Amino acid sequence: MSKVDVLLGLQWGDEGKGKIVDVLTPNYDVIARFQGGPNAGHTLEFNGMKHVLHIIPSGIFHKEKINVIGNGVLVEPFIFDQEINDLRKKGVEPTENLFLSKKAHLILPTHRMLDAANEQSKGSNKIGSTLKGIGPAYTDKIARTGIRIGDIMEFDFREKYEMLKAQHLQMAVTLKYDVSQFRIGDLTLEEYEQKWLASLDTIKKFRLINSEYFINKCLDEGKKVLAEGAQAAMLDIDFGTYPFVTSSNTITAGVCTGLGVAPSKIGRVMGITKAYCTRVGAGPFPTELFDETGSTLCQQGHEYGATTGRPRRCGWIDIPALRYACMIDGVTDLFVTKPDVMNNFDEVKMCTAYTINGKDTTEIPFEYNQVEITPHLKSFKGWKQELSGCKSYNDLPANLRTFLYEIEQQTGVNICAVSISPDRKDVLFK
Ligand code: IMP
Repeated sequence: MSKVDVLLGLQWGDEGKGKIVDVLTPNYDVIARFQGGPNAGHTLEFNGMKHVLHIIPSGIFHKEKINVIGNGVLVEPFIFDQEINDLRKKGVEPTENLFLSKKAHLILPTHRMLDAANEQSKGSNKIGSTLKGIGPAYTDKIARTGIRIGDIMEFDFREKYEMLKAQHLQMAVTLKYDVSQFRIGDLTLEEYEQKWLASLDTIKKFRLINSEYFINKCLDEGKKVLAEGAQAAMLDIDFGTYPFVTSSNTITAGVCTGLGVAPSKIGRVMGITKAYCTRVGAGPFPTELFDETGSTLCQQGHEYGATTGRPRRCGWIDIPALRYACMIDGVTDLFVTKPDVMNNFDEVKMCTAYTINGKDTTEIPFEYNQVEITPHLKSFKGWKQELSGCKSYNDLPANLRTFLYEIEQQTGVNICAVSISPDRKDVLFK
């Protein structure tokens, strides 16, 4: 019997999960998403082409691999339909190797409207949501009022849909939100709804399964399964910087509930961190840089949201947050991405501790959002060298290896590979 290996983000998202999953896929038989939804934007680059996936697992470009959308994921039918069309335009036909859990919940057009209404009602305390309907759809799931993929096939689907939609419209009134002003692209809610309803036919053409049985059967047969996380530990609903988080468990524990596998069936836990740190949307970010170095990281790192296009906030790598994520996730192996963004830096910094209210700490406090946090920054000499010539881990410049070694010492986790360009061929395993 085999176990499920896990690949997760350890910061505030956008660490390069899609790319690493794509690189690891040849070692696995099944790639499964277990949480999140179209708020994710997983970018893959190969053969000079860039591909962005939102709901579909990043193993889809390998046609002999099965890709599973697990019960913990939220599916927005119109976005799903668009993703399928984009894949077909690239010559990828996913009908045979993409399976969807019947228990995955749907994002309705009115969930997206409510996301906008909630954000508007928060005024200056906005979370900076991607506005894909994530919070409202998970709210309905927990409130036991949600609609699942399996319901699409039922005779009373339309009735359930209309009832939930009516509730959402009522909620908009309570939030004093003018629904007539809501747009998705250029479309009004009614116009979008027509497209959304038509997209349900696309979903019906795929294999809708009880994915918990499917995954466990694969494990019993000795097949290798990789669980692909979305967002990251610091955006986790329980352990992230609440309320500036997403609405799912983005951590290893989410694999158990989002795929239906027991904790004893979790194998390796691979965590990804950038060599620096980014965050998109609101919320605390102790190492954020507001100076030229911050804008250089943003420019050189092309730090713009893959889903929303928003510029990402940039700063130094934050060890207390990384160590916390490694603890909560039980990380066994680290991937470090994007050190190449700092190739021209004279010095590179790492936050090793915080000062909060005059006291030093290496822990993430409950009051993370409310207090002023001063990072302790340790300085390292830059490597001042292009990395494109490096073909193995040992080819990396000595100053970069010193920096990486310190990450291992500080987190207590070994680095298994470093990614030095967006291309799938540039991941150097140790
Ligand atoms: P939501 O999940 O769209 O409601 O967004 C909640 C918070 O999580 C916002 O700050 C988003 O910017 C952030 N977020 C959601 N998904 C991602 C992601 O895939 N990468 C990075 N940040 C994300």
